Amino acid sequence: MSFLSDTLARVKPSPTIAVTTKAAELKAAGKDVIGLGAGEPDFDTPQNIKDAAVAAIAAGKTKYTAVDGIPELKQAICAKLKRDNNLDYTPAQVSVGTGGKQILYNALMATLNPGDEVVIPAPFWVSYPDMVLLAGGEPVIAEASSQTAYKLTADQLEAAITPKTKWLIFNSPSNPTGAAYSWDELKALTDVLLRHPHVWVMTDDMYEHLVYDDFKFCTPAEVEPQLYDRTLTVNGVSKAYAMTGWRIGYAAGPVPLIKAMGKIQSQSTSNPCTISQWAAVEALNGPQDFIQDNNAIFQRRRDLVVSMLNAAEGVTCPTPEGAFYVYPSVAGCIGKTSAGGAKIVDDEAFATALLEETGVAVVFGAAFGLSPCFRVSYATSDAALTEACTRIQTFCAGLS
Ligand SMILES: Cc1ncc(COP(=O)(O)O)c(C=O)c1O
Repeated sequence: MSFLSDTLARVKPSPTIAVTTKAAELKAAGKDVIGLGAGEPDFDTPQNIKDAAVAAIAAGKTKYTAVDGIPELKQAICAKLKRDNNLDYTPAQVSVGTGGKQILYNALMATLNPGDEVVIPAPFWVSYPDMVLLAGGEPVIAEASSQTAYKLTADQLEAAITPKTKWLIFNSPSNPTGAAYSWDELKALTDVLLRHPHVWVMTDDMYEHLVYDDFKFCTPAEVEPQLYDRTLTVNGVSKAYAMTGWRIGYAAGPVPLIKAMGKIQSQSTSNPCTISQWAAVEALNGPQDFIQDNNAIFQRRRDLVVSMLNAAEGVTCPTPEGAFYVYPSVAGCIGKTSAGGAKIVDDEAFATALLEETGVAVVFGAAFGLSPCFRVSYATSDAALTEACTRIQTFCAGLS
């Protein structure tokens, strides 16, 4: 009998770890490594938010709170959902957790029974399938195509749904592609869900505010109000407010689900960090204009990276609407041999050879369920991006 649980055996080790470990090894050995793998903004948390945390400490707000969030934060979340998404929620419909990650995990743990299926569009954020497996469910991967800019079509969603489907996990703007669904594109998917009343939607709106070129973000319950009773709207302060380390995420949805999620949190981690909750109140209620300033920088970097990657031989890079990622295809590089003698059999081989021969660390597409591609995070300086893309161009020019 194995000491470790059978559940653990269902979960794969993160494929991104191999790249990260290799990059760290090369850096330790003195190699000039440029990491394009970061999943967080390189900006600092705004000062007013830090000040709110300091004030909370000074005021002795350092004790346990209600398990799923202080009333002030739940109120701020309700106001945010009304302001930004035109959604009406009461504090009883809101749960606050230790990052969006815990919220998503709580929701899956609270709802999945063995055999329950969860439709996950690919390319996907690496954690979704393994969270579903940990919670005892079955991930059903619905592959989007580069022809539709990595967005799932209504037919693809329809084909993935079975009588066992419990959830669709929807993520726009997407990690890893940056693709964001327009109102009409999302409406096509919500129309499918209307035909399948047993399917709920867990929408991960984490990158909501990071959109460019005047793109208008929208979320399922807003686009199709008839889905309100079977939607869990997940969001958090990590990305837009540069607060990844503060660990605050939240969701709004039907009260019985919110209560069930709170029950799981009450027997695992209890309340998210009290001080971070007060900081999040300030993030949501305070000035929002710095987001536009940050977005202007992100948009400039996106444009820089997309144009430089498209100039690399064998690489095709769509221009995504949001987040801080691009997801170029390397279909034109597969089957070739690098200047260093590596056979580029797939996107993992591409990323490994790129790292070893040029010191540029990217995450290969197979990690996100769609090959042959790689993910670039442009949440780093223009100088680092320019240098990294120049090295990618040289690497690709050296393929034969
Ligand atoms: C798509 C997506 N959802 C959720 C999360 C988790 O965010 P948090 O830091 O709030 O746990 C991330 C973080 O990388 C993400 O990319």
